[in-house]
Amino acid sequence: MNVLITGISSGLGMGLATTALKENAKIFAMNRSLPNWHKGKGQLRFESVDLSKFEQIPTSLDLLLEETQKLDLVVLNSGIICEINDMKDTSLNEIDRLMNVNVWANKVILDTLFLKKMEIKQVVAISSGASINGNRGWNAYSLSKSTLNMLIKLYAEENKSTHFTSLAPGLIDSPMQEYLCSVPNDKRFSPLQILKKARNTDQMPKPLDAGEFVWYKIKELFQFPSGSYIDVRDL
Ligand SMILES: NC(=O)c1ccc[n+]([C@@H]2O[C@H](COP(=O)([O-])OP(=O)(O)OC[C@H]3O[C@@H](n4cnc5c(N)ncnc54)[C@H](OP(=O)(O)O)[C@@H]3O)[C@@H](O)[C@H]2O)c1
Repeated sequence: MNVLITGISSGLGMGLATTALKENAKIFAMNRSLPNWHKGKGQLRFESVDLSKFEQIPTSLDLLLEETQKLDLVVLNSGIICEINDMKDTSLNEIDRLMNVNVWANKVILDTLFLKKMEIKQVVAISSGASINGNRGWNAYSLSKSTLNMLIKLYAEENKSTHFTSLAPGLIDSPMQEYLCSVPNDKRFSPLQILKKARNTDQMPKPLDAGEFVWYKIKELFQFPSGSYIDVRDL
């Protein structure tokens, strides 16, 4: 099984890639840094790329996939969180920063893959509950994830031989949560307290557990129409 995953250096991506390698999948991965966790764990090809630098993406994909014409699964996982703040205090630069990594990089990846005539069975874009719940403070992140949901729906309309899903993966105790749980409590941004309470409980699994859980749920996504937004906690 050939699997392309973005963002395997930590968090959910590391957990997904670890499980996939255990299942003897061949992993093609891209993000900025590759820590040592993968050593001796199976077949992994990696290209270092900053996904906010769109011009690097086609060349990296060419190198990564030079001997590959078929991908069973593409997981668009790389993502960044915004400063937790009110919308009125959020700059357009901050929104751009989030949109570039969380949305437009994924458009460039998909366009490059389809231009290469890559045969792709399934695309799973890692979304978030924040794409639909509009919590105060999660501004640029929520905008980016809701746009990602629509981007995936639109690609699903154009590419009927690939199955697309936007998948909210639930909470994961990753560097992203480390940041969120370090933001001082502020009564305007009530989810911060919920996240801090969930940390170190079953509500917020560690990356390897979350990755294993989500990996096995990915197969179930074929039962839903292509282009759907699904929350893994509803499966
Ligand atoms: N953690 C949660 O509770 C939670 C909840 C809902 C949704 N999500 C979503 O799940 C996905 C994974 O999140 P996570 O919490 O596991 O995050 P994480 O541990 O912070 O990992 C993010 C990954 O994205 C990569 N990345 C960040 N900026 C990048 C860039 N400019 N270019 C290339 N890669 C980049 C990082 O790799 P490098 O730094 O090496 O580039 C890293 O591997 C994200 O899409 C996130 O929005 C997470």
